[in-house]
Amino acid sequence: MKLADNKATLSFSNGSPSVEMPIYQGSIGPDVIDIRKLYAQTGMFTYDPGFLSTASCQSAITYIDGDKGELLYRGYPIEQLATQADYLDTCFLLLNGELPNEQERGDFHKLVINHTMVNEQMQFFLRGFRRDAHPMAVLTGLVGALSAFYHDSTDINNPEHRRIAAIRLIAKMPTLVAMAYKYGIGQPYMYPRNDLSYAGNFLRMMFGTPCEDYKVNPVLERALDRIFILHADHEQNASTSTVRLCGSSGTNPFAAIAAGVACLWGPSHGGANEACLNMLEEIQASGGVAKVGEFMNQVKDKNSGVKLMGFGHRVYKNYDPRAKLMQETCNEVLQELGLENDPLFKLAKELEKIALEDDYFVQRKLYPNVDFYSGIVQRAIGIPVSLFTGIFALARTVGWIAQLNEMLADPEYKIGRPRQLFTGSPRRDVPAGFKR
Ligand SMILES: CC(C)(COP(=O)(O)OP(=O)(O)OC[C@H]1O[C@@H](n2cnc3c(N)ncnc32)[C@H](O)[C@@H]1OP(=O)(O)O)[C@@H](O)C(=O)NCCC(=O)NCCS
Repeated sequence: MKLADNKATLSFSNGSPSVEMPIYQGSIGPDVIDIRKLYAQTGMFTYDPGFLSTASCQSAITYIDGDKGELLYRGYPIEQLATQADYLDTCFLLLNGELPNEQERGDFHKLVINHTMVNEQMQFFLRGFRRDAHPMAVLTGLVGALSAFYHDSTDINNPEHRRIAAIRLIAKMPTLVAMAYKYGIGQPYMYPRNDLSYAGNFLRMMFGTPCEDYKVNPVLERALDRIFILHADHEQNASTSTVRLCGSSGTNPFAAIAAGVACLWGPSHGGANEACLNMLEEIQASGGVAKVGEFMNQVKDKNSGVKLMGFGHRVYKNYDPRAKLMQETCNEVLQELGLENDPLFKLAKELEKIALEDDYFVQRKLYPNVDFYSGIVQRAIGIPVSLFTGIFALARTVGWIAQLNEMLADPEYKIGRPRQLFTGSPRRDVPAGFKR
């Protein structure tokens, strides 16, 4: 962190002495005011529910400029990575800070691909779930359960152990997601194949059966790989902050990642693509494109509780760069599968067109986010709606583990412990007559 020349001064209207606070500069993006000594100096906390103005850490992994609509992984624009690198290159980059050279690339791909199998005991663990359990409930359990398999060898203070945990997680997530899917539909699990690409292997574990050979469609393989790249990291979002906070106690890394999976499930975060597709299906069922105007009126009516899912973002106040790439992939996949006239895709385009011109959305800077099109792509590939967030979790695992490892390696890291503004009852006595 670089100390800025200027300082911030906080003064009080009641005459209490003012305090000076240092300012730090990042390499790009807003500076931060260091308030760490504020409580000691003033006896006061800052109040920032939802972290609207709070940087919870320093990080060198991902940078977002929400006004520009820019997303950089380790400095590289997402548009370049999505077209020039594959998901495992992106994982290497996020974990190590640099793109791999030819040798490193081969080694890393091999390392991940050779760790895709999970302990056989995992399938017995799965059997405890109802077949109709939501895949995110299953995944939260399965990822948490990995901590039972890999606890003894996980010393989070040892960088080599942290690296091994990262590889295991990236390698095993596709296997777990596919197992959760196969379990739900009552088909046998497909063991991973080391001669396939990361995305190709996942497609086979999802859609292959032991009865016949599975041929990976390169267009779908590329589309899935792109979905993985676009979801790989997104700086300090809710699930990443959850992983950091959970991991800050020194817990087992697999348990910390399970906390991230649980957080991602919510419809304001990773559950948005599922919610978006459900929304499109509902509009379609109630009359499709002809009902778009009526639906938009509901969205704009604050009392209706209806939101245009896949629109709006805490950070992007411009077109989410991932949404553009996803729209491209969407066109490619629908064309490959002969689904160009897919009614949901047409409906999504119509909704987007209206929203981008409507004052309500323009004034609030609400633009499509990545989830707006990713659901349509996944549905076309054959992924059931309830598994969308599971795919997101698979892809985001690298971001979570990279951020967790960055935190653990940071000499300034402390257990996360926010404070509060207490608004409850002051001390009082239990009434004398109240007895068990
Ligand atoms: C992502 C999201 C949670 C961000 O929330 P936030 O940063 O707290 O922003 P706010 O909820 O304060 O939104 C600002 C304003 O836009 C409105 N708004 C935000 N997203 C909206 C949406 N999708 N549809 C309709 N109105 C929306 C809010 O009602 C609010 O209006 P107001 O100022 O009149 O009260 C929110 O945009 C949302 O719920 N989007 C839909 C879910 C989604 O796609 N999530 C995926 C994120 S990757």
